[in-house]
Amino acid sequence: MAGDGLWYKDAVIYELHVRGFYDSDGNGAGEFRGLTLKLDYLSDLGVNALWLLPFYPSPLRDDGYDISDYTNIHPAYGTLDDFRMFLDESHRRGIRVITELVLNHTSDQHPWFQQARSSRENPRRDWYVWSDSVERYKQARIIFTDTELSNWAWDPVSKSYYWHRFFSHQPDLNFDNPAVREAAWEVMKFWFEMGVDGLRLDAVPYLVEREGTSCENLPETHDVLKYLRRRADETFSEKMFLAEANQWPRDVRQYFGDGDECHMAFHFPLMPRMFMAIRLEDRKPIVDIFQQTPEIPATCQWGIFLRNHDELTLEMVTDEERDYMYDEFARDTRAKLNLGIRRRLAPLMEGDRRRVELMNGLLMSMPGTPILYYGDEIGMGDNIYLGDRNGVRTPMQWNGGWNAGFSNADPEQLYSPIISNPVYGYQAVNVESQRRYDHSLLSWTKRLIRLRKSSRVFSRGTMEILKPQNHRVLAYIREFGNERVLVVSNLSSQAQAAELDLKRWKGSIPIEMFGGNLFPPIGDLPYLLTLGPYQFYWFRLRRL
Ligand code: GLC
Repeated sequence: MAGDGLWYKDAVIYELHVRGFYDSDGNGAGEFRGLTLKLDYLSDLGVNALWLLPFYPSPLRDDGYDISDYTNIHPAYGTLDDFRMFLDESHRRGIRVITELVLNHTSDQHPWFQQARSSRENPRRDWYVWSDSVERYKQARIIFTDTELSNWAWDPVSKSYYWHRFFSHQPDLNFDNPAVREAAWEVMKFWFEMGVDGLRLDAVPYLVEREGTSCENLPETHDVLKYLRRRADETFSEKMFLAEANQWPRDVRQYFGDGDECHMAFHFPLMPRMFMAIRLEDRKPIVDIFQQTPEIPATCQWGIFLRNHDELTLEMVTDEERDYMYDEFARDTRAKLNLGIRRRLAPLMEGDRRRVELMNGLLMSMPGTPILYYGDEIGMGDNIYLGDRNGVRTPMQWNGGWNAGFSNADPEQLYSPIISNPVYGYQAVNVESQRRYDHSLLSWTKRLIRLRKSSRVFSRGTMEILKPQNHRVLAYIREFGNERVLVVSNLSSQAQAAELDLKRWKGSIPIEMFGGNLFPPIGDLPYLLTLGPYQFYWFRLRRL
């Protein structure tokens, strides 16, 4: 571990759902004891941080993002003792744990909301955002466009409207109320004290509302985050905040503050542009977005990803780009959800191993901390016939046997059907069969992660984008201290040649990192490389 408190910079994060990982007690859903049994698998894969989807008591109408008790464990997933055991076992293996802090809203079943709605005089009333008319905050957009018509919902109990940015069963907390801020800090403290290393701050742009604004990214919202960060820094060390702010780079930049707000933030706009680039066979979308990405404070880091538990969000693209993405990646309209596409990586890449490898190669070599989504390391498929985002949250496929080795329960009892089609089904795609072969996607991913972690140039280095004439080739130099790595990727389905201007590194020898082989030294002429379809190289540049 890093030793300078910046562990999150050198992390390779694995996102998983406790419910979907391993069911050790045979009731049809995964739990902490099951997950703990699989920690050796994760440690062998090489990841050194886990991000867990919400596991708190909840009516599960938004898969746990609707929390009814912030400081406990959903009984289906175990007990606080089970969680502590999981945490200790993770730490023993050098794996950090990041959990969810859903601050913006609670479940309508949370006792706070039950009290707030019970009467207009209740002391908890002001913990939520109420109104007698739906005319307030009209400029705020609706996020779950497929299910919600308004950000206001009628409460028949207290006969007024309450504010919600997500599902109507998720009332927004009122962060103008200091008592709510205190409550948020208490929750944070509870998990940090237990030993949790980082918190993903869910839906942070929406904490505060102001008339006449979009109610997103407001200065008052940043004040709340700075306050929480200050309290965390006063009490703990080496803890991390990861902001979920699905916004344009200049707006996300604000969530880092002057290094006094969030340590990390997801780079949402980069993700769809990686998919666009590989489909267009052109580096332009990726280059453009990096040009628009501002510098961030030295202690901060982007979180980068290909897929996660939500739809592949297309909020941060233009209307034209969104149409293109839908045409190319969601020809079956069942794959569309809200402003996005509910598919996993392998099906999005049409099962093409070369494209899956290229996308992962980009992910692991670009500036930021990479986040892998569970199951993508074996190329799991999805099920677009399940509702909402459930089709990308199906059980992990461990082997080709009963319930994919996920659970001993009756198949009908599982929280979700297992993927069973002949292409992506568990008999074809599972950990056990891929563990046996050096050339499986799983074995390859392991090597990729190992290589990524072999040098801090990837986790901490600068990035300089080169501009070879062939725009189907993306090339960049990562640099940290006296280490330099050249990454060259062919985004196209056909063989390509590129001439790179590497004059500045004249006399260096490129060493291909996967095989360790020497390439011809860099001389005066442009450096010529040929690449097969979707091929990429990582070269360490060694001075003579
Ligand atoms: C975040 C989560 C998403 C959830 C929403 C509401 O966007 O990623 O899964 O539905 O917040 O909590």
